[in-house]
Amino acid sequence: MPTLSSSSPASVWDSVDGIAFGGDYNPEQWPRDVRLEDIELMKEAGVNLLSVGIFSWGLLEPREGEYDFEWLDEVMDNLAAAGIKVALATATAAPPAWLVRKHPEILPVTEDGTVLERGSRRHYSPSSAVYRRYAAGITRSLAERYKSHPALALWHVDNELGCHVTAFYGEEDAAAFRRWLERRYGSIEELNEAWGTAFWSQHYDTFEEIIPPRLAPTSLNPGQQLDFMRFNSWALKDYYRSLLAVLREVTPGIPATTNLMASSATKLLDYFDWAKDLDVIANDHYLVAADPEREIELAFSADLTRGIASGSPWMLMEHSTSAVNWQPHNRPKMPGEMLRNSLAHMARGADAVMFFQWRQSKSGSEKFHSAMVPHGGRNTRIWREVVELGSVLGRLAPVKGSRVESRVAIVFDYESWWASELDSHPSQDVRYLELMRGFHRAMYLRGVTIDFVNPAADLSGYDLVLVCTLYSATDAAAANIAAAAEAGATVLVSYFSGIVDEHDHVRLGGYPGAFRELLGIRTEEFHPLLPGESVTLGSGSLVAGRKGSVWSEHVQVVDGTTEVLASFTGYPLDGVPAVTRRPVGTGSAWYLATLLDAEGIDALVGRLLNEAGVVASAEASAGVELVRRSHADGRRFLFAINHGSRDATVKVDGEDLLGGGRFGGVVPAGAVAVVAED
Ligand code: GAL
Repeated sequence: MPTLSSSSPASVWDSVDGIAFGGDYNPEQWPRDVRLEDIELMKEAGVNLLSVGIFSWGLLEPREGEYDFEWLDEVMDNLAAAGIKVALATATAAPPAWLVRKHPEILPVTEDGTVLERGSRRHYSPSSAVYRRYAAGITRSLAERYKSHPALALWHVDNELGCHVTAFYGEEDAAAFRRWLERRYGSIEELNEAWGTAFWSQHYDTFEEIIPPRLAPTSLNPGQQLDFMRFNSWALKDYYRSLLAVLREVTPGIPATTNLMASSATKLLDYFDWAKDLDVIANDHYLVAADPEREIELAFSADLTRGIASGSPWMLMEHSTSAVNWQPHNRPKMPGEMLRNSLAHMARGADAVMFFQWRQSKSGSEKFHSAMVPHGGRNTRIWREVVELGSVLGRLAPVKGSRVESRVAIVFDYESWWASELDSHPSQDVRYLELMRGFHRAMYLRGVTIDFVNPAADLSGYDLVLVCTLYSATDAAAANIAAAAEAGATVLVSYFSGIVDEHDHVRLGGYPGAFRELLGIRTEEFHPLLPGESVTLGSGSLVAGRKGSVWSEHVQVVDGTTEVLASFTGYPLDGVPAVTRRPVGTGSAWYLATLLDAEGIDALVGRLLNEAGVVASAEASAGVELVRRSHADGRRFLFAINHGSRDATVKVDGEDLLGGGRFGGVVPAGAVAVVAED
């Protein structure tokens, strides 16, 4: 494992005035006259930070050991002269052709043994010793050359690690996996116990016998699968750390990060674990154009990113001004949508608003991906909106450094995501995020902001804690969650939580083993629902007449203080509890045994918020996204984003940072208000 010096680098926030604004800049795709025009346009838009050189290794080192830095020197100098800071990339996200020809063993291998070729990008395995050596080489050359450059504000290590290829199954990966397992378990007996290898003759005599979970006749050992996911997340992070070690050595004062992809789509990297090695959390987010509720998915990603950042301001390193090129149908954003998206990220904690990319490519596979400077040039809607955004962000400088207010936590655990969706489970339709996103959506629509927190995180600041499908729970996590209820929080635990420990071993004695006592319930058998099947919840109850899908189970109440708030109706679960509540300490512990429909979730959320004493960020018409950020000194900012097609009212008194003057109480259709509250 690379060792890092203990020096503490500067903060990127100190190098950039106000909110950071800019994007990926790929000047190598353009001749000098265009690059000079870029500087003028950047000044016009108010750009102050750019990620430079992400895919430029092939031009920086066209032949092994022969460097061409002149063009980059000129770019860096011109940016510095214009007062624009640079997040300089290590250029390692696409190895050059000469390197792959010389060392084809660096290429990634998939689970069926296919070697992924060059010709696109990200064609290397993070465990390849050869690749690491060359990547460290170009990183060191860049660091040495630009270590004192006035434009350098941040290192952008590689790019979206784990994008395209998340798991690596080659021989060198297998060897690294074995070493990782040895460190984790110490002895092969420990591994045999953890993986339960007495089953199906899977016993190992030595670590050398172990391979990655490659394509096999039927379901693979769950312990092997889970550890391989842990290993891959670690291997990519370890590769990041190997480059970070070089950067720390040459430029100890310059902070470093890499752009994460935290969203409902990126499952296989444990970003809560990664966060410890990033000086600032940076995230990329792209809307799914076909999703009618895409702004809610954006909020989910932004909230998750803030959780990974432990609530500190983070960087939106990439989003798009308009269409992307990689969805089946790449629809542009509607007028005003890019501003709403940008400010929604900012509302949820981003102090940097950046894009892929500065100038739209004219060739290559991303030529139809939108950019800040579109193919049509300055006389375009996109360019006008980019300039407007730059000016809006300028007015929002007072928000910089503030933190998002929230009294509701949703427990988020990548390991439970991995483990809950392994094969050979009671139902393949239990998706880790489904109920969680339902709760997040209901809170969003009610103007209540949630924080995503790790199961072991400090929960003391929260009045309401939601634990959704936390299938795998450590003893420490279970105790932490129970302690939150004891200390006064309303805690809700959902179906398929606390079923196994960290080795994917069932907690015996009845489900849900980790939370049985806390909830005062016990389940002997699950009753997963078939696709399209639903159960109706009993009349007179909290969620009377609402439907549940995906899951039900034979819940028994085993504690005299546990109340039944809703029951299933109809054979074979007629009268079986579906929602329960147990008073615990000064708080309570609720159980939810099915995936409620949207109205059911909303009704339940209403009751939970009421019990926890949590109210919306402000009173407002429906359809307005509301989030509050505040400084430690008491200055507060309400973001009100009107995604609807009608003007909306918002009750808040203060200064209208975007419109100027006093806030008049109305946010026009499609517009955003940021109010510095009295
Ligand atoms: C990201 C990537 C960028 C660009 C962008 C397009 O995944 O980091 O380089 O490809 O997607 O949406």
